[in-house]
Amino acid sequence: MIPDDEKGYKLDLFCVPKHYEEDLDQVIIPHGLIMDRTERLARDIVRDMGGHHIVALCVLKGGYTFFADLLDYIKALNQNSDKSVPLTVDFIRLKSYCNDQSTNIVKVIGGDELSTLTGKDIVETGRTMETLLSLLSECNPKMVKVVSLLVKRTPRSSGYRPDYIGFEVPDLFLVGYALDYNEYFRDLSHICILNENAKEKYKV
Ligand code: IMP
Ligand code: MG
Repeated sequence: MIPDDEKGYKLDLFCVPKHYEEDLDQVIIPHGLIMDRTERLARDIVRDMGGHHIVALCVLKGGYTFFADLLDYIKALNQNSDKSVPLTVDFIRLKSYCNDQSTNIVKVIGGDELSTLTGKDIVETGRTMETLLSLLSECNPKMVKVVSLLVKRTPRSSGYRPDYIGFEVPDLFLVGYALDYNEYFRDLSHICILNENAKEKYKV
Protein backbone atom coordinates (compact mmCIF):
# COMPACT_ATOMS: atom_id res chain seq x y z
CA MET A 1 0.00 0.00 0.00
CA ILE A 2 1.72 3.16 -1.17
CA PRO A 3 0.10 6.11 0.65
CA ASP A 4 -1.13 9.31 -1.04
CA ASP A 5 1.55 11.36 0.71
CA GLU A 6 4.36 9.01 -0.35
CA LYS A 7 7.41 11.17 -1.14
CA GLY A 8 9.13 8.54 -3.27
CA TYR A 9 12.83 8.77 -4.07
CA LYS A 10 14.83 11.48 -5.81
CA LEU A 11 15.76 10.53 -9.36
CA ASP A 12 19.49 10.98 -8.80
CA LEU A 13 19.55 8.18 -6.22
CA PHE A 14 18.98 5.66 -9.02
CA CYS A 15 19.94 5.13 -12.66
CA VAL A 16 17.41 6.71 -15.00
CA PRO A 17 17.94 7.05 -18.78
CA LYS A 18 19.33 10.49 -19.64
CA HIS A 19 16.51 11.08 -22.16
CA TYR A 20 13.90 10.97 -19.38
CA GLU A 21 15.66 12.96 -16.64
CA GLU A 22 13.62 16.12 -17.27
CA ASP A 23 10.30 14.28 -17.49
CA LEU A 24 9.97 12.61 -14.11
CA ASP A 25 9.19 13.92 -10.64
CA GLN A 26 10.10 11.03 -8.36
CA VAL A 27 10.79 7.32 -8.41
CA ILE A 28 7.78 5.85 -6.64
CA ILE A 29 8.59 2.11 -6.89
CA PRO A 30 12.24 1.22 -7.53
CA HIS A 31 12.89 -1.75 -9.81
CA GLY A 32 14.32 -3.89 -6.99
CA LEU A 33 11.17 -3.51 -4.92
CA ILE A 34 9.03 -4.48 -7.93
CA MET A 35 11.11 -7.65 -8.28
CA ASP A 36 10.89 -8.53 -4.59
CA ARG A 37 7.12 -8.12 -4.53
CA THR A 38 6.77 -10.09 -7.79
CA GLU A 39 8.74 -12.97 -6.27
CA ARG A 40 6.20 -13.18 -3.45
CA LEU A 41 3.23 -13.00 -5.86
CA ALA A 42 4.73 -15.97 -7.73
CA ARG A 43 4.91 -17.95 -4.49
CA ASP A 44 1.27 -17.13 -3.62
CA ILE A 45 0.10 -18.11 -7.11
CA VAL A 46 1.93 -21.46 -7.14
CA ARG A 47 0.57 -22.22 -3.66
CA ASP A 48 -3.02 -21.44 -4.74
CA MET A 49 -2.93 -23.16 -8.13
CA GLY A 50 -1.99 -26.59 -6.77
CA GLY A 51 -1.05 -28.72 -9.76
CA HIS A 52 -3.47 -27.01 -12.20
CA HIS A 53 -2.17 -26.25 -15.67
CA ILE A 54 -1.86 -22.49 -16.13
CA VAL A 55 -2.37 -20.66 -19.41
CA ALA A 56 -0.60 -17.44 -18.56
CA LEU A 57 -2.14 -14.66 -20.64
CA CYS A 58 -0.13 -11.48 -20.90
CA VAL A 59 -2.01 -8.25 -21.47
CA LEU A 60 0.20 -6.21 -23.82
CA LYS A 61 1.84 -3.89 -24.04
CA GLY A 62 1.99 -2.61 -20.47
CA GLY A 63 2.03 -6.06 -18.88
CA TYR A 64 4.99 -7.51 -20.73
CA THR A 65 7.78 -6.79 -18.25
CA PHE A 66 5.75 -7.82 -15.24
CA PHE A 67 4.57 -10.95 -17.06
CA ALA A 68 8.11 -12.01 -17.97
CA ASP A 69 9.44 -11.39 -14.45
CA LEU A 70 6.47 -13.10 -12.77
CA LEU A 71 6.87 -16.15 -15.02
CA ASP A 72 10.59 -16.29 -14.30
CA TYR A 73 9.83 -16.51 -10.59
CA ILE A 74 7.15 -19.16 -11.17
CA LYS A 75 9.63 -21.14 -13.30
CA ALA A 76 12.25 -20.89 -10.55
CA LEU A 77 9.73 -22.30 -8.05
CA ASN A 78 8.75 -25.04 -10.51
CA GLN A 79 12.30 -26.26 -10.89
CA ASN A 80 13.21 -26.08 -7.21
CA SER A 81 10.31 -27.65 -5.34
CA ASP A 82 8.26 -30.85 -5.08
CA LYS A 83 5.11 -29.09 -6.26
CA SER A 84 5.08 -27.57 -9.76
CA VAL A 85 2.53 -26.02 -12.13
CA PRO A 86 2.67 -26.70 -15.89
CA LEU A 87 2.70 -23.39 -17.80
CA THR A 88 1.81 -22.32 -21.32
CA VAL A 89 1.70 -18.71 -22.48
CA ASP A 90 -0.44 -16.50 -24.66
CA PHE A 91 -0.62 -12.80 -25.41
CA ILE A 92 -3.42 -10.35 -25.97
CA ARG A 93 -3.18 -6.67 -26.77
CA LEU A 94 -5.58 -4.13 -25.29
CA LYS A 95 -5.59 -0.42 -26.00
CA SER A 96 -7.74 2.16 -24.21
CA TYR A 97 -5.52 5.14 -23.41
CA CYS A 98 -4.67 8.38 -25.19
CA ASN A 99 -2.45 10.92 -23.37
CA ASP A 100 -3.21 10.41 -19.67
CA GLN A 101 -6.91 9.71 -20.14
CA SER A 102 -8.80 6.48 -20.58
CA THR A 103 -10.95 6.46 -23.71
CA ASN A 104 -14.21 4.57 -23.42
CA ILE A 105 -13.25 2.11 -26.11
CA VAL A 106 -11.15 -0.93 -25.25
CA LYS A 107 -9.59 -2.42 -28.40
CA VAL A 108 -8.58 -6.11 -28.30
CA ILE A 109 -5.94 -7.54 -30.64
CA GLY A 110 -4.71 -11.18 -30.64
CA GLY A 111 -4.85 -14.15 -28.23
CA ASP A 112 -5.88 -17.67 -29.18
CA GLU A 113 -6.24 -20.19 -26.39
CA LEU A 114 -7.61 -18.26 -23.44
CA SER A 115 -8.08 -20.05 -20.16
CA THR A 116 -6.49 -19.67 -16.74
CA LEU A 117 -4.40 -16.76 -15.60
CA THR A 118 -3.88 -13.20 -16.71
CA GLY A 119 -0.98 -10.82 -16.05
CA LYS A 120 -1.56 -7.12 -16.23
CA ASP A 121 0.17 -3.76 -15.63
CA ILE A 122 -2.32 -1.52 -13.86
CA VAL A 123 -6.01 -1.35 -12.95
CA GLU A 124 -7.37 2.19 -12.75
CA THR A 125 -11.15 2.29 -13.29
CA GLY A 126 -11.21 -1.48 -13.89
CA ARG A 127 -12.98 -1.01 -17.21
CA THR A 128 -10.23 -2.60 -19.31
CA MET A 129 -10.11 -5.70 -17.12
CA GLU A 130 -13.90 -6.04 -16.96
CA THR A 131 -14.04 -5.91 -20.77
CA LEU A 132 -11.37 -8.60 -21.05
CA LEU A 133 -13.03 -10.81 -18.43
CA SER A 134 -16.35 -10.72 -20.25
CA LEU A 135 -14.56 -11.74 -23.47
CA LEU A 136 -12.74 -14.55 -21.67
CA SER A 137 -15.96 -15.89 -20.18
CA GLU A 138 -17.17 -16.61 -23.73
CA CYS A 139 -14.40 -19.25 -23.91
CA ASN A 140 -15.79 -21.01 -20.80
CA PRO A 141 -12.50 -21.23 -18.93
CA LYS A 142 -12.33 -23.55 -15.91
CA MET A 143 -11.00 -20.69 -13.85
CA VAL A 144 -9.73 -17.15 -14.43
CA LYS A 145 -7.40 -15.38 -12.02
CA VAL A 146 -6.12 -11.88 -12.56
CA VAL A 147 -2.73 -10.65 -11.40
CA SER A 148 -2.09 -6.94 -11.65
CA LEU A 149 1.12 -5.31 -10.52
CA LEU A 150 -0.68 -2.07 -9.65
CA VAL A 151 -4.13 -0.96 -8.60
CA LYS A 152 -4.85 2.75 -8.49
CA ARG A 153 -6.87 4.25 -5.64
CA THR A 154 -9.25 6.45 -7.57
CA PRO A 155 -12.83 7.67 -7.25
CA ARG A 156 -13.24 6.61 -10.90
CA SER A 157 -12.90 2.93 -9.91
CA SER A 158 -15.77 0.59 -10.80
CA GLY A 159 -14.98 -1.39 -7.65
CA TYR A 160 -13.22 -4.14 -9.60
CA ARG A 161 -10.32 -5.83 -7.70
CA PRO A 162 -7.87 -8.33 -9.26
CA ASP A 163 -7.18 -11.64 -7.46
CA TYR A 164 -3.53 -10.76 -6.89
CA ILE A 165 -2.22 -7.21 -6.48
CA GLY A 166 1.40 -6.09 -6.35
CA PHE A 167 0.95 -2.55 -5.05
CA GLU A 168 -1.96 -0.21 -4.41
CA VAL A 169 -0.91 3.24 -5.63
CA PRO A 170 -2.11 6.88 -5.36
CA ASP A 171 -4.20 8.47 -8.11
CA LEU A 172 -1.24 9.74 -10.17
CA PHE A 173 -0.12 9.02 -13.71
CA LEU A 174 2.73 6.50 -13.43
CA VAL A 175 5.23 5.39 -16.05
CA GLY A 176 8.08 2.89 -16.34
CA TYR A 177 8.46 -0.89 -16.07
CA ALA A 178 6.46 -1.06 -19.35
CA LEU A 179 3.79 1.47 -18.29
CA ASP A 180 3.70 4.16 -20.97
CA TYR A 181 2.60 7.67 -21.76
CA ASN A 182 1.79 7.65 -25.50
CA GLU A 183 4.29 4.78 -25.94
CA TYR A 184 7.17 6.56 -24.15
CA PHE A 185 8.74 5.42 -20.85
CA ARG A 186 8.38 1.67 -21.37
CA ASP A 187 12.20 1.68 -21.50
CA LEU A 188 12.50 2.86 -17.89
CA SER A 189 13.09 0.25 -15.13
CA HIS A 190 11.59 2.04 -12.13
CA ILE A 191 7.97 3.12 -11.73
CA CYS A 192 7.99 6.93 -11.66
CA ILE A 193 5.64 9.89 -11.46
CA LEU A 194 5.35 11.76 -14.76
CA ASN A 195 5.62 15.54 -14.40
CA GLU A 196 3.24 18.07 -15.99
CA ASN A 197 5.86 19.33 -18.51
CA ALA A 198 6.31 15.82 -19.86
CA LYS A 199 2.54 15.41 -20.33
CA GLU A 200 2.70 18.40 -22.68
CA LYS A 201 5.96 17.34 -24.31
CA TYR A 202 4.75 13.87 -25.33
CA LYS A 203 1.12 14.78 -26.01
CA VAL A 204 -0.47 13.53 -29.25
P1 IMP B 1 -8.75 1.08 -16.60
O1 IMP B 1 -9.50 0.48 -17.73
O2 IMP B 1 -9.24 2.46 -16.24
O3 IMP B 1 -8.62 0.18 -15.40
O4 IMP B 1 -7.29 1.42 -17.14
C1 IMP B 1 -6.31 0.45 -17.23
C2 IMP B 1 -5.37 0.74 -18.39
O5 IMP B 1 -5.13 2.13 -18.52
C3 IMP B 1 -4.02 0.12 -18.13
O6 IMP B 1 -3.91 -1.14 -18.73
C4 IMP B 1 -3.05 1.12 -18.73
O7 IMP B 1 -2.85 0.85 -20.10
C5 IMP B 1 -3.76 2.44 -18.64
N1 IMP B 1 -3.36 3.23 -17.43
C6 IMP B 1 -4.13 3.55 -16.37
N2 IMP B 1 -3.46 4.28 -15.47
C7 IMP B 1 -2.20 4.41 -15.96
C8 IMP B 1 -0.99 5.05 -15.46
O8 IMP B 1 -0.93 5.64 -14.37
N3 IMP B 1 0.09 4.97 -16.28
C9 IMP B 1 0.08 4.33 -17.48
N4 IMP B 1 -1.01 3.71 -17.97
C10 IMP B 1 -2.14 3.76 -17.22
MG1 MG C 1 -0.73 2.51 -22.09
